[in-house]
Amino acid sequence: MNKVNNNLRHFLTLTDLSSDEFRQLIDRAIELKAIQHRGEIFEPLKNKVLAMIFEKSSTRTRVSFESGMAQFGGHAIFLSPRDSQLGRGEPIEDSAKVLSSMTDCIMVRTYEHEKIESLANHSSVPVINGLTDAVHPCQLLADMQTYFEQRGDIKGKTVTWVGDGNNMCHSYMHAAMLLGFRLNIACPEGFEPEQAFIDETSDHITITHDVTSACKNSDLIVTDVWASMGQEEEQKIREQAFSDYQVTTKLMALANDDALFMHCLPAHRGEEVSANVIDGSQSVVWDEAENRLHAQKALLEFLLLK
Ligand code: CP
Ligand code: NVA
Repeated sequence: MNKVNNNLRHFLTLTDLSSDEFRQLIDRAIELKAIQHRGEIFEPLKNKVLAMIFEKSSTRTRVSFESGMAQFGGHAIFLSPRDSQLGRGEPIEDSAKVLSSMTDCIMVRTYEHEKIESLANHSSVPVINGLTDAVHPCQLLADMQTYFEQRGDIKGKTVTWVGDGNNMCHSYMHAAMLLGFRLNIACPEGFEPEQAFIDETSDHITITHDVTSACKNSDLIVTDVWASMGQEEEQKIREQAFSDYQVTTKLMALANDDALFMHCLPAHRGEEVSANVIDGSQSVVWDEAENRLHAQKALLEFLLLK
């Protein structure tokens, strides 16, 4: 029998949070980071279990959730289609019911966004989106924590997204709407974000094919891989389409003097970003990666203890 949870909240997109909740999570992530850096034991999720379904590869998402649960006194279970019944055709809805009866939270990384929605509809425990083709909301918790730590509130600032109108771009569009920053999206023709996300966030974004003017006066420049997971066969076509969209020191020089550079990683130096930018002084990619741990611990606490 599945548990009945009247306070059930899922985190499938950033818009599952209110603006205030997003800000509270950022503040809490900063506190949790300080607690961990002081070496204090803090175990609010003792005996709690997180099931993690990965239908795509991962380093950061897996390690941050697994470490986060361990540090919180709980446990995480890694499941992949290769060695679970998911890969042998057991319906996701059935898996959701079974996992909900044995664990306290389910994290999923998959392809179609509809699949995680369906899983959430059949789950009696919170479901967290660890990336779909549509969005990557956990990464935005970490990116925004990083910006707030380095520069303070992002409200009223200008962020420029350079590259593909992909899952990361869509989550930046949501963040712009929730936190009140301006988002320039510089992408090649044919690689714009999806129309539904444009319609939802149109007051907060500008889409352009002029990467130079997009970067001017920016407070943060962000990019991502040209071919996302599942698009490997498009790599060569995309390399041509995106050849003018590499974040270089020349582009960074157009931004404000104190502008930051972010990339969710994994990165391809010499493709979407030059080595001297990602390894340079304006890059905060290592803090950004570490903050996956702290931001997701804040999220787990929010979903499991509220
Ligand atoms: N940024 C990110 O989600 O990294 P992984 O694919 O390694 O989890
Ligand atoms: N857009 C990338 C992000 C990886 C973390 C992908 O979906 O592969």
